Amino acid sequence: MASQRIETKNNIETPPAVAAAAVLNPPFYIAGKVQEGDKRGRELGFPTVNMKIGNLTIPYGVYVVLAKIKERILKGIAHVGIVETFNVKDPRCEVHLLDYNGDLYNERVELNLLKLLRQVKKFHDSQELVLQLKEDEKAARHFLKNL
Ligand SMILES: Cc1cc2nc3c(=O)[nH]c(=O)nc-3n(C[C@H](O)[C@H](O)[C@H](O)COP(=O)(O)O)c2cc1C
Repeated sequence: MASQRIETKNNIETPPAVAAAAVLNPPFYIAGKVQEGDKRGRELGFPTVNMKIGNLTIPYGVYVVLAKIKERILKGIAHVGIVETFNVKDPRCEVHLLDYNGDLYNERVELNLLKLLRQVKKFHDSQELVLQLKEDEKAARHFLKNL
């Protein structure tokens, strides 16, 4: 059978397996512009794109995502919620792109959140957070490879 291209919201092309799952459990979608973060992510080795969004209407958590930026589809892991470890109380959505390095300030980002990896946690220190982020990246790559 010829492989099919199925599109989810806003025409982000999604492999058939994800689209099939989406029928049962729609992926969450968020769009917004990139704004300046606290620059902490870069120091941790996990630079993030911080999205300017209004009210968050999706559950807090860490997700595998596909991001549409400048007509490109990029893979990533996203954090939605408060940054418990550093006591940042305003909810946010930030994305670490897996194979991208560059300045995206002020660009529009559209996100399909494909899979919830885990809940947001409070870590003792940055080292513990980084260990978890490495695990998140591994799990995301595994998920995206097996679509
Ligand atoms: C995939 C991912 C998962 C994250 N998970 C958590 C978490 O569980 N708890 C937490 O306090 N912060 C979490 N963070 C947020 C980091 O603390 C944050 O990226 C870092 O503080 C950098 O923030 P900045 O980009 O505003 O400088 C996560 C970030 C990413 C990209």
